[in-house]
Amino acid sequence: MLNHKTAVITGASSGIGRAIASQLAAEGVHVFITGRSQEQLEDLKSQIEQSGGQATYSAFDLRDTGKLQGFIHQAREQTGHLDIMVNNAGLHIHGNIVDTKVDDWREMIDVNIVALLAGSQAAVHEMRLNEGSGPGHIINISSGNAYEPGRDFYSATKHMVNAIGQALTHELAKEPIQVTTILPGAVATNFGRNLEPETVVELARKLGMEVEFNQGDHLPEELIARIRGAMGQTFLSGDDIARAVVYALQQPQNVVVRELYLTAPNVYLGNDFSM
Ligand SMILES: NC(=O)c1ccc[n+]([C@@H]2O[C@H](COP(=O)([O-])OP(=O)(O)OC[C@H]3O[C@@H](n4cnc5c(N)ncnc54)[C@H](OP(=O)(O)O)[C@@H]3O)[C@@H](O)[C@H]2O)c1
Repeated sequence: MLNHKTAVITGASSGIGRAIASQLAAEGVHVFITGRSQEQLEDLKSQIEQSGGQATYSAFDLRDTGKLQGFIHQAREQTGHLDIMVNNAGLHIHGNIVDTKVDDWREMIDVNIVALLAGSQAAVHEMRLNEGSGPGHIINISSGNAYEPGRDFYSATKHMVNAIGQALTHELAKEPIQVTTILPGAVATNFGRNLEPETVVELARKLGMEVEFNQGDHLPEELIARIRGAMGQTFLSGDDIARAVVYALQQPQNVVVRELYLTAPNVYLGNDFSM
């Protein structure tokens, strides 16, 4: 059903985006992947190609929305159509509003919200050029925290992601372009990269690992695997979320998946781990 489609996926250099790109490529989708980490993108492209799939990558900072829009245009130009846009990239800089730096708010707004808006807008423009107005699908990765917008500033940005999905649904009601918002609970990925280094070092120690960690770095793969292994009832994997994306995309034309909220059993609204 997804064979020969074209998708753009942001934040594909790690975590949930990487898993989405791998699963879509396995379904026969030509994936156009982006993130900042060139090495990780190159590695994902090779893995996909070794499995017989197709991937094109470009490494850039999404805060340069012109580059994002250019990449989305490239995807349609190169393959003749754009069918799927996955706005996945996002970050959580932890901290209370009264203590947070202005630049940290700005980064969360620029990546979690502005890049998602710019990606959606460019995707709609390109999807409208699909031959025979073939259908398009925008997938926005929000968070369970969107249901608790008063939790912290990150949660407020994700609440806005849900609102944008609803507004786009209204705007596109008469067009063959669907919008799906996916709300993951806690997922074992690099998402904890903006935690205080001591928190990460302490967590690793509890899981039997000594790590050196600088805030913002990717977490060691081994640590992510151990978190999943030790706390599988709390943390989902990127693959769990990717399957939800494939599910939303594989519905027949008369079924629209507007919203999906997925968590591990120990995560529920109001709990410390709802993300
Ligand atoms: N993990 C969770 O518990 C969880 C829960 C709910 C929702 N989510 C959401 O899921 C999405 C993916 O997160 P994840 O868990 O997969 O985290 P992750 O492993 O840290 O991945 C984040 C991705 O976003 C990219 N990114 C971040 N800032 C960027 C920027 N300025 N320019 C370009 N790319 C940028 C990263 O690229 P580089 O690494 O190359 O910089 C990376 O590919 C996010 O929207 C997040 O809010 C995650």
